[in-house]
Amino acid sequence: MTPVCQQCNGTGWVTILNEHEVECVRRCPCWLAKQRRWAEDVPQEFQAARLSNYKALPGNREAMKAARAFLAGARDLVLVGGVGAGKTRLACSILNEAFDAGRFGWFLRVPLMLKSLQPCGDDNDERSRLMKFEHRLMVEPMMCLDDLGAERERATDFTRRTLLQVYEQRHDRGARTIWTSNKTIDEIAAMQDDDRLASRLAGWADVVVMSCEDQRLAG
Ligand SMILES: Nc1ncnc2c1ncn2[C@@H]1O[C@H](COP(=O)(O)OP(=O)(O)OP(=O)(O)O)[C@@H](O)[C@H]1O
Ligand SMILES: [Mg+2]
Ligand SMILES: [Zn+2]
Repeated sequence: MTPVCQQCNGTGWVTILNEHEVECVRRCPCWLAKQRRWAEDVPQEFQAARLSNYKALPGNREAMKAARAFLAGARDLVLVGGVGAGKTRLACSILNEAFDAGRFGWFLRVPLMLKSLQPCGDDNDERSRLMKFEHRLMVEPMMCLDDLGAERERATDFTRRTLLQVYEQRHDRGARTIWTSNKTIDEIAAMQDDDRLASRLAGWADVVVMSCEDQRLAG
């Protein structure tokens, strides 16, 4: 059973003092969270993104097909393409479509993931935060790991090991992953100076290259 919200006692309403020190009734954050209409941590810009409002362009035709296949099937997905090609938006559209269908998804950028996996203290709270975060990375049934290869010019040992471990653990548990990257699989292998992650990406995922021009600059 989920615990009753302590702010509103489960009523969904809270009383706050507004800027004029007047008491006002407002929706409780717990109620707002339940009304969410997008997958978790999807950037604000893409909360309304769906496959139905994703503009079809010659450069994203294959990627849209692969997005539908991902939602229906079992293989993972790697969206590769230049800046502004629409990779992150498409990945968020997939997560949101899954969310609409009652499935759970999580959006996370790779550089932030790597940063969050570095311990920043030795106390119990920090150890517990790290364990929870690591566990979630392994078991979240569907997630987008955005911007693989944006970490650094050359991968460090930590990056190499961590990315491989996260992907292997997820795969072992049948968790589904959408990766986006500005780098091709070959470039990822070169950057890592190691073929292991590249081999798993190529073997476990549909790798689709998006050739659209920068849609941020499109009118
Ligand atoms: N097919 C599309 N339909 C509608 N909007 C799009 C489409 N493709 C891209 N856009 C818009 O173009 C902008 C860039 O898209 P997005 O952030 O997904 O690119 P990206 O490939 O992830 O780029 P980067 O490599 O810089 O992260 C966003 O504002 C997005 O909404
Ligand atoms: Mg992006
Ligand atoms: Zn509440």
